[in-house]
Amino acid sequence: MRIALFATTTAFVLLGACGGPHANSSNTTAANTGNSASPPQVAAGSNADPDMTPVSADQAKTVMHERHEGMESIGKTTKTLKRELDSSSPDTAAVHAAAAQMADLSSQATGWFRAGTGPDVGKTGAKPEIWQNPQDFAVKVHAFQQAAKAFNVAVMSGDGPSIKTKFGELGQSCQSCHDKYRSEMHH
Ligand code: HEC
Repeated sequence: MRIALFATTTAFVLLGACGGPHANSSNTTAANTGNSASPPQVAAGSNADPDMTPVSADQAKTVMHERHEGMESIGKTTKTLKRELDSSSPDTAAVHAAAAQMADLSSQATGWFRAGTGPDVGKTGAKPEIWQNPQDFAVKVHAFQQAAKAFNVAVMSGDGPSIKTKFGELGQSCQSCHDKYRSEMHH
């Protein structure tokens, strides 16, 4: 706990967000320590399951649109992160914002795969296998959420090697879901 609190303070100092080492009265500390207290492994029930209840035809369009927009944001956020982490002088504020956004998007992803939003109802890169293997798909979603949170924790700690490792693991979580559950769409 002490280490996490210290790391948070350090991060804020680096961002220039506080006037001095004693000025950090930020209430984001609770959220940060909450993250660092989460189990390091993908434990059953540690993340939300994707909601796979069926949608009406009307809702389907909305969900499919949200999924597309959400994945596009995830893609853009990943590009920003890659650019900054490859840079010799990364923009720390941009990295922090992107890491937090990624964790948030990974939580939102639970709502993007309702039954009735597959290729039989509209143009989508989501394969029917998603709804044929709901348990395996949930594992992929959990792995992604876990990787996004772990990456965010690493960014807040400010530890370079750990940030790189966790970013690599995050990328693998995208890949392992796409390999099985995403088809190439030709726009
Ligand atoms: C649990 C499965 C899963 C994970 C994890 C996942 N994706 Fe996706 N992704 C999909 C599916 C399914 C689609 C197709 C969505 C559609 O067309 O409706 C997709 C589409 C995309 C697209 C194209 C946008 C679109 O909707 O056509 C991009 C870019 C993308 N993903 C990037 C990423 C990145 C980067 C990560 C990791 C940081 C990631 N995804 C993690 C399943 C996943």
